[in-house]
Amino acid sequence: MIDRVVAVYFSPTGTTRRSVSVIAAEMARILKVTVESYDFTLPSARSTVLAFKRTDMVVLGTPVYAGRVPNVLLKYLATLQGNEAIGIPVVLFGNRDYDDALIELRDIMERAGFHVTAAAAFIGEHSFSRVLAKGRPDERDAEALNAFAARVVEKYKESDDRKITVKVKGTPYPYRGYYTPRDRKGNAVDIRKVMPVTNDRCIDCKLCVEICPMGSISYDDVREYTGICIKCGACIKRCPMGAKYYEDAGYLYHKQELEEGLTERREPELFL
Ligand SMILES: Cc1cc2nc3c(=O)[nH]c(=O)nc-3n(C[C@H](O)[C@H](O)[C@H](O)COP(=O)(O)O)c2cc1C
Ligand code: SF4
Ligand code: SF4
Repeated sequence: MIDRVVAVYFSPTGTTRRSVSVIAAEMARILKVTVESYDFTLPSARSTVLAFKRTDMVVLGTPVYAGRVPNVLLKYLATLQGNEAIGIPVVLFGNRDYDDALIELRDIMERAGFHVTAAAAFIGEHSFSRVLAKGRPDERDAEALNAFAARVVEKYKESDDRKITVKVKGTPYPYRGYYTPRDRKGNAVDIRKVMPVTNDRCIDCKLCVEICPMGSISYDDVREYTGICIKCGACIKRCPMGAKYYEDAGYLYHKQELEEGLTERREPELFL
């Protein structure tokens, strides 16, 4: 018996939130149960330990960063307590690939005590870009998200055998390394230390301070950083004045290469 569906997600630019919320709402509608959500994008939300129960169905969503689950989330994800709830890992990728992110998220949920019966990789507008996978998830994705939700419920109704873990695409542990961007000559481009710059259009509204998932933008001076930048795109895409951007040549080359090389539409991949 399932009496609650919960959408749990990290989503700096909103594509994971939108996708996971559609899946959870549709499952709850079919099952005629309540739906709740937990957004752990902000640092403050990652101090709460989430404990679920056997009668929960939990859709856990993260974006794909460098072909894996964002490494800054691993510590928090290890605190989740599944307590035999049904777990559905979902990753969002920006039209390149999800590599080993889905298998990694599945394993994280298993270790946390969920019974993982289904999993999926969907596509969201790339965090680095406004043209790569522009506007996704779109209407076609919405159909796939709803269809996935229906199939998960159908599978659950056919058999509530919680012992079988779903098989997903990816290299089993030890996973492949993090995907590395390359320059024109094939040398690795290290964008870890790259920070957004801020131009004079900034009106000091502090929105970027509030939404940075790393809490890294200084309240006293929004041009300054007090911690790491994971290049999540939140401050850049959501600044009302378009005042934040990157000027690092290596980052810009990588972005351009992605935009020019990945024009073919990728479709969602479902595992049940
Ligand atoms: C640091 C970083 C690395 C990324 N790596 C990948 C990748 O390896 N493959 C891919 O297709 N998309 C990649 N993306 C794009 C995101 O996975 C994608 O845009 C996702 O929809 C963003 O989710 P959000 O809107 O919930 O923040 C990356 C984004 C960031 C910020
Ligand atoms: S969101 Fe944009 S305008 Fe507002 S403080 Fe940040 S950089 Fe300035
Ligand atoms: S500073 Fe970096 S981590 Fe923070 S919101 Fe901006 S892009 Fe994301």
